[in-house]
Amino acid sequence: MKVNEVLKLKATDLNHNGYGVARHNNLVVFVPYLLKNEEANVKIISVKKNYSFGVIDKITKPSKDRVEPVCKHYYECGGCSLLHLNYEAQLKHKLDSAQRTLKKLGNIDLEIKDIYGKDQYHYRNKVQMFYSQDKQIYSGFYQEQTHDVFKLEECYLQTKTASKISVTLDKILNKYQVPIYNEKTKAGLLRAILIRNNQKGEYVVVLISKEDKIGNLDRIVKELVKEHPEIIQVHLNVNSKSTNVILGSKTKELYFKKKFIEEIFDLKFELNYNSFFQINYDVMLMLYKEIVDKVKNLKIKKAIDAYCGVGTISLLLSKYISEVIGIEVVFEAIKNADNNKKINNIKNAKFILGKTEEKLLSINNIDLLVVDPPRKGLEDSLIDTIKQKEIKHIIYVSCNEATLARDLGLLKDEYNVKEIKAFDMFPNTNSLECLAYLERKPKVK
Ligand SMILES: C[S@@+](CC[C@H](N)C(=O)[O-])C[C@H]1O[C@@H](n2cnc3c(N)ncnc32)[C@H](O)[C@@H]1O
Repeated sequence: MKVNEVLKLKATDLNHNGYGVARHNNLVVFVPYLLKNEEANVKIISVKKNYSFGVIDKITKPSKDRVEPVCKHYYECGGCSLLHLNYEAQLKHKLDSAQRTLKKLGNIDLEIKDIYGKDQYHYRNKVQMFYSQDKQIYSGFYQEQTHDVFKLEECYLQTKTASKISVTLDKILNKYQVPIYNEKTKAGLLRAILIRNNQKGEYVVVLISKEDKIGNLDRIVKELVKEHPEIIQVHLNVNSKSTNVILGSKTKELYFKKKFIEEIFDLKFELNYNSFFQINYDVMLMLYKEIVDKVKNLKIKKAIDAYCGVGTISLLLSKYISEVIGIEVVFEAIKNADNNKKINNIKNAKFILGKTEEKLLSINNIDLLVVDPPRKGLEDSLIDTIKQKEIKHIIYVSCNEATLARDLGLLKDEYNVKEIKAFDMFPNTNSLECLAYLERKPKVK
């Protein structure tokens, strides 16, 4: 196989990145945008020892599941990866892929029972866009695998209002000729924008700048909120570092109309713009309902909600158990969690600032441990602590089935994995949220 060679290939599978997997003379060829069972003329673009990459030259036999992507930016944007597959087939693909990963990386055979999904489009309640400039200043996303920003004209993940707010701001930034940060030369100021909304349709806007000295900022904010009365707060976040981390640690409030509050069932949650919150509200409700329903039936006295964010799971569970302790490493999130406890008049919850793997060591008599870690999953030391603590019930919420599979595999000698459910928190992307319920195995005498 050589670079630039065009081969007739058939994809026999779709991998976890959404790439078609084909074979030529026993060598695997990954082909982005080729669907399972599709045939195509594929141009080889890179040849490695064990696999190659190709791009579609022409599809000769399309899949019945192929659809025309709704978004004009799909093939340049790194945001979505499955828009060329109909939604039902996306769900099936994610379920199959997660099932295979669980087997391969954790040796877990249990069938994932259900996959819950809701709206395919406009589900994100938080979005981050970057700025660039040619003749005009514009906002958009990075082109796939690069830091080159393309001008965003539509997006089917964020809300329509978020798109309108960024378009308005682009116009205002052009009017005042705000200097845009250039990653290569490090010149300029404004780097990115973060927009977060709640279910009431209220918006928080955060401008991210290299320094805190953008000219005409008062006018810019005034004109923005005049055009968008749904904006209830505007902040300036200063990030002078040249890393991939978007937000810096310093913030200045530029406009404040009211607190940003989100409701979950009968509870209220106040959030800081940089505290974690599930990005798909409807699917989040399905996930939390599942957790609450499970716990209601377990007769729990003391529970730990590890990686608790602003305290959502802790406070939702507090009704059904005697005591719950949330652990979270981000200071603002723990502050929100403590405040949320007060707002909701909850007495049996407590929040601890720190790393789960450190704080859990000194907590005993735990009946239930809920873990909801970031993508990298659980630390090895935490797995050891969990084994030693002999906790009866574990609920593991995961946004990465590979680390979930690894961790379930590591806990397998001590725990039975009783149930796994999947939630399509991130439609049109390859990510999937899973919920696993584990029960301690009885001790062999
Ligand atoms: C996937 S979020 C889950 C938040 C929460 N359970 C929810 O549903 O909103 C993971 C959270 O873990 C926090 N985190 C990351 N590493 C941590 C650690 N080692 N110990 C405690 N919290 C951590 C993050 O700041 C984030 O808030």
